[in-house]
Amino acid sequence: MKFSLKYAFAVVLVIVVVACSPKIKTTTTTPAPVTDPIMLAKITEGKSLYETNCNKCHELHKPGKYNEQQWTKNLNWMAPKAKITDEQKATIFAYLSNNAKH
Ligand code: HEC
Repeated sequence: MKFSLKYAFAVVLVIVVVACSPKIKTTTTTPAPVTDPIMLAKITEGKSLYETNCNKCHELHKPGKYNEQQWTKNLNWMAPKAKITDEQKATIFAYLSNNAKH
């Protein structure tokens, strides 16, 4: 029961992210702060996933240390090491990209 609720929530998140992404992409300079509550929930979840999955082999790297592109690369590299799902990877990316270097 707990799992299926969580899954449904994740599906909604994915839909929202997909639906909203063209708007995000059109910003040229500094993106506007995230105000959408579902996106904020995802960022918060991403932070906790990051803090529990990414410090097993090394200290946590500060999100502001890399830009979005570098985080994409780093996450693609580290996800198999951390044995996280694609969904968890996307959630962690939401947190990291929201706090990434510009
Ligand atoms: C199984 C061990 C392991 C886990 C789990 C792990 N990493 Fe790493 N990570 C490494 C190793 C090994 C390196 C390269 C050597 C180093 O910097 O210590 C590295 C390096 C990095 C770097 C530096 C990349 C660079 O360009 O120098 C980043 C950023 C990073 N990891 C992020 C993450 C994130 C995000 C996660 C969680 C999804 C994660 N790591 C989980 C082993 C791990």
